[in-house]
Amino acid sequence: MTVPALRGRPAWASLEKHHAEMEGLHLRQVFADDDKRGERLTVEAAGIYLDYSKNRITDETLRLLLQLAQESGLRERIDTMFRGDKINTSEKRAVLHVALRAPRGASIIYDGQNVVPEVHAVLDKMADFADRVRSGAWKGHTGKRIRNVINVGIGGSDLGPVMAYEALKHYSERAMTFRFVSNVDGTDFAEAVLGLDPAETLFIISSKTFTTLETMTNAHTARDWLLAGLKGESSATAKHFVAVSTNAQEVAKFGIDTANMFGFWDWVGGRYSMDSAIGLSTMLAIGPDNFRAMLGGFHEMDEHFRTAPFERNLPVLMGLLAVWYNNFFGAQTVAVLPYQQYLKRFPAYLQQLTMESNGKHVTWDGVAVDYDTGPIYWGEPGTNGQHSFYQLIHQGTRLIPCDFIAFAHTLNPLGRHQDILLANVFAQTEALSFGKTAKQVAAEGTPDWLVPHRLFEGNRPSNTILLDALTPAALGKLVALYEHSVFTQGTIWQIDSFDQWGVELGKALAQQIVPQLESAAEPKLEHDSSTNALIRRYRKLKGSA
Ligand code: F6P
Repeated sequence: MTVPALRGRPAWASLEKHHAEMEGLHLRQVFADDDKRGERLTVEAAGIYLDYSKNRITDETLRLLLQLAQESGLRERIDTMFRGDKINTSEKRAVLHVALRAPRGASIIYDGQNVVPEVHAVLDKMADFADRVRSGAWKGHTGKRIRNVINVGIGGSDLGPVMAYEALKHYSERAMTFRFVSNVDGTDFAEAVLGLDPAETLFIISSKTFTTLETMTNAHTARDWLLAGLKGESSATAKHFVAVSTNAQEVAKFGIDTANMFGFWDWVGGRYSMDSAIGLSTMLAIGPDNFRAMLGGFHEMDEHFRTAPFERNLPVLMGLLAVWYNNFFGAQTVAVLPYQQYLKRFPAYLQQLTMESNGKHVTWDGVAVDYDTGPIYWGEPGTNGQHSFYQLIHQGTRLIPCDFIAFAHTLNPLGRHQDILLANVFAQTEALSFGKTAKQVAAEGTPDWLVPHRLFEGNRPSNTILLDALTPAALGKLVALYEHSVFTQGTIWQIDSFDQWGVELGKALAQQIVPQLESAAEPKLEHDSSTNALIRRYRKLKGSA
C-alpha cells in the first residue's frame, strides 16, 4: 500500500480542522453531556483495563484518529513486522522481538527459516544455567556457590534487566544479590562490587555488539577485580563470566568460552531485548518458570495488538492518543506515573524504548519531516511525584498528558496503604480532568485575592491503566503495550523506530577525545575553541599538563 506523506492524508486535514473546534471544549462538558462516558471510553484486553475517557477527545476525534491509522497503513505494517519483513530499513534488518515470546511450536519464518525453535533453544539453555546457579550446582572457581550476580551492560542491555529485576523483586531469590553496572563512571562499578566476595560473584557481560565502550571498559575492570580477588589465576574467569551477545567472535576474544555465551539475533533491537537472553539476570533472579510467565504476558499483548480491531486495540489507542497530543496540541512530553513502587525504574526504561525509537527527524525514506515526532517520556512513581512535579501538571502552562498505572492488588498488604495509594490515583486523574472553578474556590470562603492561586483549570488529559497485580505476566503485557504503542506512533509518522543513528556522533567523538585526555605529550587539538579549551583545562586540573 502506498501511503501519502502525513500531511497529505485526508484524516490529517480533518483532524487539524477538528482540533480547532475542540480546543475550547472542556472535559467537564464532555462528561456532563454523556453520563456513560467513563464506562464507554474504556477497553479491557489481556487483563489490562484502559480508561481513556479523561482525554480531550470526542467520538469524532476517535473516528478521525482511527481513520488516520487506516490511511497510514497500520494494519499492513503490523503484518509486515510479524512476518519478518526488513522494516528497519536504514539497518536493513527485520524487527522480530515478537518472536522472542512466541510459544514453542509457533512458526515465524525469517530468511527461509523458522526462528522460534532457535529462540526456545536459547531459553532452554538459559533455564538450565539459571537452575544450576540458583541451586548451587554451578560453583565458582574456589568451589563456593554463586551468591552475587552482576549484569554489566548499558542502554537496552541494562535498562530492561534493571527495570525487570526491580519490578519483579517480589518473585526473586532473596538469598542472592543482584546488581547492575552500566555507567563508564568507575563509581558505578566500585559501588556495585562493594562488600562482595569475588569467589561468590558471577558477571554477565551483556552487549549485543560486544564492542560498546562503556560495557567493555567495565568488563575489563570486572575481570581485573575478580583476578585480584582470586589471587590472579586467569583460569578463574571461566566460572565467573558469562556473555550475552550476538557477536561470538568478540566474546571469544574477550576470553569467555562461547559455550558460556547466550545468543540472540540482529533482528532484536537493544531496547526490545529484555525478553531475549539479555534477560538472563532476570531469569536468574525470578527463575525460569516466572520468566516464561513473563514471556506469556508479552505474547498475549502481541496477539491482542496483531488481531484486535483498532477501536478495541490498547496499543493502537494509546499510540493514537499520543499522536493527538503531540501533533495537534503541541504537547512535548508524556508523563508515565506508576502507582507501584516496584515499577520505580519503569519510566527510565520507557525513555529508551520511546525516545531512542521515535526521536527521528527524517522519514524511513530519508525525507525531513515537517511535523513533530517522538515526545519526551518521563515520570516517577506515585505518590512521590505528587509532592514534586505534579504542581506543574496541575497549574503550569504546559499540557502534559499522563499515563497513570495502577494495580488492584498489592504484593505487600500493609494496613490501609493500598486503598490510600489507589485513592491517590483516582483523585489525581479526577483533579486533572475537572479541576476546581473560581466559583467553587470562592464558595469555600477563599478571599478574592487568593482565588486565582487556588483555582484549577482542569482539562488535563490522562489515561488510567489498571491491572490486577504486578505478576511476571502483567509486566510482560505492560512492556509490550508500550512497545506496540511506540510502533503505532512510528507508523503514523513514517519513521524508522528501530534504528538509533543519533547516538553515533557522540560515541565517535569520545573515541577521538579519550587519547587526547590520556596522552602524556600535549595533544594537537583540532576541535572547536570551546572543546579545545575544556580539554586543556581538564588536562591541567588532573595534572597532566
Ligand atoms: O545507545 C546506543 C545503543 O546501541 C543502544 O541501542 C543499545 O541498547 C546500547 O547502545 C547498548 O549496545 P550493546 O548491547 O551493543 O552494548
